[in-house]
Amino acid sequence: MVKSSQNGFGGDFTDKNHWQEAAEKIYKKVCRVARSSAGKIPYSTVGGRFDDRSEDICWWTNGFWAGELWQLWGAFGGDELKSIAEEIEKKLDSVFLKPWGMDHDSGFRWLMTAGASYRLTGSEESKNRLILAANDLAGRFNLAGRFIRAWNDSGDGSRAGWAIIDCMMNLPLLYTVSDLICDPRFAQIAEAHADTSVSAFLRPDGSLCHIVEFDPISGRRLKSHGGQGYAHGSSWTRGQAWGLYGFTLSYIHAKKPEYLETAVKIADRFISRIPENKLIPVDFDQPVEPWYEDSTASAIAACGLIELSKFAGRKYLEAAESLLEALTESRCRFDCGCDNILEKCTAAYHDSQHEGAIIYGDYFYTEAVLKLCGKETFLW
Ligand code: GLY
Repeated sequence: MVKSSQNGFGGDFTDKNHWQEAAEKIYKKVCRVARSSAGKIPYSTVGGRFDDRSEDICWWTNGFWAGELWQLWGAFGGDELKSIAEEIEKKLDSVFLKPWGMDHDSGFRWLMTAGASYRLTGSEESKNRLILAANDLAGRFNLAGRFIRAWNDSGDGSRAGWAIIDCMMNLPLLYTVSDLICDPRFAQIAEAHADTSVSAFLRPDGSLCHIVEFDPISGRRLKSHGGQGYAHGSSWTRGQAWGLYGFTLSYIHAKKPEYLETAVKIADRFISRIPENKLIPVDFDQPVEPWYEDSTASAIAACGLIELSKFAGRKYLEAAESLLEALTESRCRFDCGCDNILEKCTAAYHDSQHEGAIIYGDYFYTEAVLKLCGKETFLW
């Protein structure tokens, strides 16, 4: 049942003890914070303390806190972490009943909750939730354009043809459920979307667009849109990271060489643009002023690079470690002064708020550190 990823580096490339120390610091802090935040589903912080998105139950990030708790429970134990994660999984059941609550981010919501629970405990209820979520995600597939539709609209169809690079990270829900029920339908949809993403999102230089609009009837690619990055045509770093990790995950599941080639192209481009201080901006093409960072992009890219290194070589592991080292040295809080771990996380360049706490930053930093000390539960 448990599919813990083996470190896979033969101990040669990475100092496991160093990352084990970081993992223990995360665990110590999260145990304290989990107790003081019981009942909350955090997204960010207010005055250093976690906020609570329980009332906004459909919010796309609502699985990540549970995912972090499951990762740490899998690595170190602690009944309290497990029961809080299980409580969040149950709260998310109401999302299934909200017509506009479901979107392309079902993988984020349910792989981190039901998927983790099923892998670690074998819960049949959790398995059922995974199947329900995969059915809904598969239902967003546009047959003419061979893409999974992204966000909803108000019912006017204005976004019926929109797909986004972030969706690559949700495909593992489909691959997982195909494996679970021995039925290739879901994996076929995942591969079709991944194939379309190679041709529709990847630019010749190895960077990725955020949003692509298709004609929802003919399926023809119409144009790209700027999204959460600086401008149309720029390189929003979290989008690059979603693509880097997402194509690597599709390669892990489907073993199509094009996915590995694509992940390598994206990774090479990403690495070539990492600033000297190894701290990742919100957009690689943003102006010098105002300069905003996004630590979440760094943590997600590090996870992708670690997995990619298992197929494409040591240089990707070294890049991942240098990103994580920079975060650990200067963007992590292991003390009690605030509930979050990662600092300087930014949702979008043009938002009014920048450089705060965001829960998926903490999740992916934790996942990356656990990968490097061989204690990760592979949730994808
Ligand atoms: N999936 C939305 C984001 O990365 O902000």
